[in-house]
Amino acid sequence: MDRRTFIVAATATLASTFFHGSQAFAKGQIVQLPDPVTTGGKPLMDCLAKRHTDRSLKGGAITMGHLSTLLWSAWGINRSDGRHVVPTAHNKQQLQLYAVLGDGVWLYEPKTNSIVKVLDDDQRSRFDGASVILLYAAPIDDMFAGMHVGSMYQNVGLYCAANGVPNCVKHTNHGVLDTSLPLPKGWRVYISHSLGEYPH
Ligand SMILES: Cc1cc2nc3c(=O)[nH]c(=O)nc-3n(C[C@H](O)[C@H](O)[C@H](O)COP(=O)(O)O)c2cc1C
Repeated sequence: MDRRTFIVAATATLASTFFHGSQAFAKGQIVQLPDPVTTGGKPLMDCLAKRHTDRSLKGGAITMGHLSTLLWSAWGINRSDGRHVVPTAHNKQQLQLYAVLGDGVWLYEPKTNSIVKVLDDDQRSRFDGASVILLYAAPIDDMFAGMHVGSMYQNVGLYCAANGVPNCVKHTNHGVLDTSLPLPKGWRVYISHSLGEYPH
């Protein structure tokens, strides 16, 4: 069956919706995220000073609003010509970003600031059981892939420093979903990034 294209509007109600460990959204469903917050926040030098690994990664669900800004920080489009927060060699943009949440795995679609559900069920225990796990994917034969992925995890590390979110880049188990994800042929997950709970 073709993937479902049920679009959930980005309303104020949605912005405060939490992803719980339920099957509220079917595989193939697309969810329009609220606009990311792309201004303000902690000064850059404070974020650099505070970036660090913190392995207190368990925690509750993430809000749609936080998820939107988190994904935008990693792989959002920040200019009207379609270029991203992360530079890529020759602007090839060969990167994918997945979010492993309590109700399944979602692929980020930066052009529409939406996510599409690609796997059902809570897969987080296959990694480290963190609250949110990001998967950074790229072509196996791209000599720049590691650099591109490193740019994504550094952006997220700074975002986490800005927002007081514990986080750890992890090589361990990063590829456990490679055969299940809709990766383009010849692509793989290079590294995962686990996040804990947002401060209350
Ligand atoms: C590419 C990469 C892979 C990593 N893999 C793991 C891992 O599998 N498990 C883990 O606990 N930490 C992992 N880390 C976190 C490092 O151990 C951590 O960044 C390092 O100890 C330096 O600490 P800092 O991030 O606070 O500067 C990884 C970090 C990077 C950049």
